[in-house]
Amino acid sequence: MNYLWEGLLNLKSSISAYNDSIAFCYLNLDNGAIAINENLSDKTNQLLLVLNEEMVIPEKQLAIRIVDNRQLIFFNEEQLATGTKLFLQQYLPYCFLSIVAKEKERAIVVAHFAQTLDGKIATENGDSKWIGNKENLQHAHRMRALCNGVAVGSKTLEIDAPKLTVRHVTGTDPLRIIIGNPPPVFDSLLESSTAAIHVFCSRNLEELPNINYHYLPSENGLICPNEILKKLYQLDIHSVYIEGGASTTSHFFERNAVDILQLHIAPILFGSGTNGIQLPVINQVKQGKLFDEYHFLPVGDSIMFTGFCTK
Ligand SMILES: NC(=O)c1ccc[n+]([C@@H]2O[C@H](COP(=O)([O-])OP(=O)(O)OC[C@H]3O[C@@H](n4cnc5c(N)ncnc54)[C@H](OP(=O)(O)O)[C@@H]3O)[C@@H](O)[C@H]2O)c1
Repeated sequence: MNYLWEGLLNLKSSISAYNDSIAFCYLNLDNGAIAINENLSDKTNQLLLVLNEEMVIPEKQLAIRIVDNRQLIFFNEEQLATGTKLFLQQYLPYCFLSIVAKEKERAIVVAHFAQTLDGKIATENGDSKWIGNKENLQHAHRMRALCNGVAVGSKTLEIDAPKLTVRHVTGTDPLRIIIGNPPPVFDSLLESSTAAIHVFCSRNLEELPNINYHYLPSENGLICPNEILKKLYQLDIHSVYIEGGASTTSHFFERNAVDILQLHIAPILFGSGTNGIQLPVINQVKQGKLFDEYHFLPVGDSIMFTGFCTK
């Protein structure tokens, strides 16, 4: 799996730096080499990734057609080991986030929660360590490596003191983003990595060295998510992994600023506590939020729901 992971990291960085339109890419499953819009010299065990919808896929070629930069259609998949296919289903779509970001001129948002069977992400007193299993922790670190930025709300910074690094996988630590007006409690971030820290705030704060502050207009204390995402894009951040808490992610979700939602569903019930996604009350089932595409994949002894929101 290591070469596959290295290959996906290569693919994500190369796609992000590529400025022309991409018709196809090759990924060598044996050594992680990649090529964009051209062939690989070593043709053994290569996976063709086709983005141009008119391109014909050669017979017997192991290939994936990428529809709308996110939906995967496999060809000749019997050539793939089950674990490799699952890994590609789980992580390949995130290699194309830069393409969408360039179209929308804003950072693309993937939001993640580890939640209980009854949708809780913390107990009444704020404890959330750990609702997810160890595979979910590794998953979150992979996602941090595939995104350019990782974000949490100011309360999560205060309560959880997260490090927001990729220490459980290989890859580069993302830029760390705090949303809100946190007290100066950045030790967990400063001590764990030299990756930049950016705070998007609405009030004047006591500024610390090594922290980048962005003051944005707000309404009732809330900054418009799109303004944060446009500013991140200007900073060359094409994708951001939002890891909660409930109010931060819910506000992004309500304002249609979540592109992909990942819910790790753990086999535990609280019966009380904090709901992950909190939205205005609806009265009819048909008013519930549906997803353009979704899948459920295993993560250790639990499952991960991944929903692609309306474009
Ligand atoms: N299970 C999980 O996956 C998971 C993940 C993360 C966190 N958690 C848990 O979630 C709990 C924290 O959640 P929470 O909802 O209380 O807090 P939160 O979302 O972490 O932080 C809320 C604060 O963020 C700021 N904020 C959020 N959106 C904003 C916006 N659009 N503009 C400006 N500021 C914004 C506000 O800060 P100011 O008040 O400073 O203005 C707000 O009070 C903790 O118990 C934590 O352990 C669980």
